Amino acid sequence: MEIPILDLKREYLSIKKEVDKELSDCLKTQHWVLGEKVSEFEKKSAEYLGVKYAVGVASGTDALTLSLTAVAIKLKNKECFDKKDEIITTPFTFIATAEAISRCGATPVFVDINPYTYNIEPAEIEKAVTKNTVGIMPVHLYGLGCDMTAISKIAKKHKLFIVEDTAQSFGGIHKNKKLGTFGDLGAYSFFPSKNLGGFGDGGLIVTNNEKLEKLLRILRNHGQVTQYDAAYLGFNSRLDSIQASVLGVKLKVIDKVNAERIKIAEQYNIAFADIKQIQTPDMPNMDKHIYHLYTIKVLSKRDELLKYLNAKGIGSRVYYPVPLNKMKAFKDSKIKGNLKNSEQSSKNVLSLPIHPFLKAEEINYVIKTVKTFFESKG
Ligand SMILES: Cc1ncc(COP(=O)(O)O)c(C=O)c1O
Repeated sequence: MEIPILDLKREYLSIKKEVDKELSDCLKTQHWVLGEKVSEFEKKSAEYLGVKYAVGVASGTDALTLSLTAVAIKLKNKECFDKKDEIITTPFTFIATAEAISRCGATPVFVDINPYTYNIEPAEIEKAVTKNTVGIMPVHLYGLGCDMTAISKIAKKHKLFIVEDTAQSFGGIHKNKKLGTFGDLGAYSFFPSKNLGGFGDGGLIVTNNEKLEKLLRILRNHGQVTQYDAAYLGFNSRLDSIQASVLGVKLKVIDKVNAERIKIAEQYNIAFADIKQIQTPDMPNMDKHIYHLYTIKVLSKRDELLKYLNAKGIGSRVYYPVPLNKMKAFKDSKIKGNLKNSEQSSKNVLSLPIHPFLKAEEINYVIKTVKTFFESKG
């Protein structure tokens, strides 16, 4: 049996009629960049997330970079931070998180994660705050929210901004509130593999701050305040009509699709509960993990299991094998405290297929194959 980690074809077939109609509208109107479809998607996603404003951009990476640029303009009246400005984040994430910080001129400060949730540890953030700290960039990894109650308190106490990297958690919840809506700005990615994914790159920024929203709309369009007059050094970072159309269709079913992911995760959790070499994902009370990825911690023989699963046709992967602090691109970043949980997790984590169109026999095959591996190891 072949079970890819992601099956976009099945997802497309489940919404084909509506998506095809939307795409045919785009072909008829020949409206491609921004426009009505984008405005409509922005409105619908703001409503869904419970925020005042949503601004469509060209990718999740741009959503982070434009967010930081807007904050820099608000705080410093220029489009970038200074190297002495520190932004606290996690090293256990995708490159784009710290890349955005460095691109915007600030210094990423890495602190450790919680070994059960894989999310940034609020107590470590508090310890890392210095007179140069300007902001916090928490990442809601794999679909589970950070402890935004604790992080918001720290930000308030030290007057820091928060940009939430919500690239992996569209629709996830912390204490009855959607992830991405706690901070000054929330950034989402619509890369095709994401739980809400387009037919290419795309991203979104949400905020309740009107000034930031206005700035973001200007920044995504070359900093133009009126046509051919730029007030800021901006970007070409606009969501296009095809992405907005597809995302609009998928947004209507996002809760259903996330619920399917949760159901599969629950089956895995029960099946793996008695395998002592596996730590299943944590879900603190009051939170809703939407399992963008289903990631287990394999306490021994992770790489052997990975090879075994791949040989048996099961697409499993390591997100992420190298903490960002170990990468050459981030040699000028800072580390506060030790990063032992991040480093350990990069050696132990393994993600299994959890896309919402998995069939019962495929889920059972994944479970059986994982169990057989550990039985054979004694
Ligand atoms: C945690 C995280 N941040 C940022 C990004 C960047 O998003 P994009 O690929 O849309 O630029 C991603 C996605 O790859 C991600 O997983």
